[in-house]
Amino acid sequence: MLKFSIIATIILVIMQFITIDIAPQTTAKNEIVAPKEVMTILKKSCYDCHSNESVLPWYGKVAPMSWAVGNHINDGRKVLNFSTFYTLPKAKQKEMFERIEESIVIRMPLPSYTWIHRDAILTPQEKKLLQKWSKEEFRKL
Ligand code: HEC
Repeated sequence: MLKFSIIATIILVIMQFITIDIAPQTTAKNEIVAPKEVMTILKKSCYDCHSNESVLPWYGKVAPMSWAVGNHINDGRKVLNFSTFYTLPKAKQKEMFERIEESIVIRMPLPSYTWIHRDAILTPQEKKLLQKWSKEEFRKL
């Protein structure tokens, strides 16, 4: 049993040296512009993975959780980054608003995230508000 604990500890320590690179925080350029109540929801429920302003909890810095968290952030930013939203071509922005509307109903924010970040879960009213907003933005473009 003691042997097992020692080995487990050594493995955990070694794991800490394997890190996932998350792009450094940059100042927001061309950040999404939305009404205040929409921004509040986006910041609360989406910004950790879809912006350059990710806030990592302490356990998000400890392997193996840091690998999952790092991957989520990198993958999330790759598909959608609110911090640089208007650098996208117009057609892409339009498509994104459509996908935002859909993703809210189906699977965003990710359950693996809301499992811990209970406050990020969207209430029915918040969902409605975000959908109304993305629909309007979609029509504008
Ligand atoms: C825990 C991190 C995380 C959070 C929080 C999160 N997302 Fe995502 N999102 C991802 C990842 C990772 C992907 C890409 C992989 C995938 O599609 O599962 C993604 C993909 C997407 C996509 C494109 C894919 C699609 O379904 O068409 C949209 C749009 C999106 N997210 C919107 C949102 C919105 C809006 C919120 C907030 C209400 C949000 N996400 C919160 C991680 C997250």
